[in-house]
Amino acid sequence: MKTPHVFLMCPPEYFDVSYIINPWMHGNVRKIDNALAKQQWRALYDILTDHANVRLVSPQPGSPDMVFTANAGLVKGRRFLVTRFRYPERQYEEPYFADWFLDRGYDVSLMPRHVPFEGAGDALFDRGAQRLWLAYGHRSVLAAREVIAERFGGEVVALKLTDQRFYHLDTCFCPLDGGYVLYYPAAFDAPSRATIERLVPDSRRIVVAEDDALAFACNAVSAGKRIVVNRASTAFVDALGRRGFEVVQTPLSEFMKAGGSAKCLTLRLDEP
Ligand code: ARG
Repeated sequence: MKTPHVFLMCPPEYFDVSYIINPWMHGNVRKIDNALAKQQWRALYDILTDHANVRLVSPQPGSPDMVFTANAGLVKGRRFLVTRFRYPERQYEEPYFADWFLDRGYDVSLMPRHVPFEGAGDALFDRGAQRLWLAYGHRSVLAAREVIAERFGGEVVALKLTDQRFYHLDTCFCPLDGGYVLYYPAAFDAPSRATIERLVPDSRRIVVAEDDALAFACNAVSAGKRIVVNRASTAFVDALGRRGFEVVQTPLSEFMKAGGSAKCLTLRLDEP
C-alpha cells in the first residue's frame, strides 16, 4: 500500500566518482560500475514507488553527485531553502535544484553566501516532536541555525559531528515515525550526545552498532513502517522489528563509493 510520502530523486545518468570530498571517495575515482549503479538506483526507485510517490529532477553533465538529492536543500511545506555547498565541485548543482522548485511554484530562498549548508543531508525533521535537527562540523556551519530558524521558525537543535566518515547528519542519524531516532553515538561530540539523550526518551532511542553504521544503516529512507537501507545486521533488523518497523535491504555499493546510500539518494518533499 502507498503512503502519502513524496520523494525527489535524480537518475544516475552522469553519476561517477570524479573528485574526492569525503573519505569514502578515496581510492574510488573512476571506479564506478555504471551498469550496476543504474541497476541499484532503479531497484531503490522501484521499492519507493511501491510505497510512495517519486518525482525526478534531470541529471546534469558535470555534476556526478547530483544523484544525492538529499543535498538539494531543505523543504518545509511549499518553502525551499537552497543548499549552499561547501565544496566548489558540487556548487554547480545549486541552480538546477533551485529551478526545479521555482518551476513548481515553491517559495525559494537562498542561504547567505558565507553560510555553507547542505540541506536535508544535515537537517532532519523529528517525526515525533516539532523539531529540526541540524548538524554542523563538516559540511554545514552552525550559523545556518539562525537563518533556518528565521526563515522557517520552530525549534532548531544543533548537533556537532566529529568523525570524518559521518560527514552529513543523515549518515549517522535518522528520525523515524513515532518519535524514534536511529543513531550512531560515536559520530557526535559528547555535548551533542547529551542533547540527544535529553530530548529523545530512552525508549525512543535506537543505538546503531559500528558495523551497521559503516554499512550506512542510519542512511535510511522511511516510508511509514518501511525502512529502506543498503544493508543491515540481524540485530538491526530485530531491533526495528520490535518497534513495528520492517527493514528492506537493497544493495547500493556503487553509491557507497561516493559516500552515500539510500537516504542520500532521496529528498522527502512532503514536509508539513
Ligand atoms: N559524494 C557526495 C558528497 O560528498 C555524497 C553525498 C551524500 N549525501 C548525503 N546526504 N549524505 O557530497
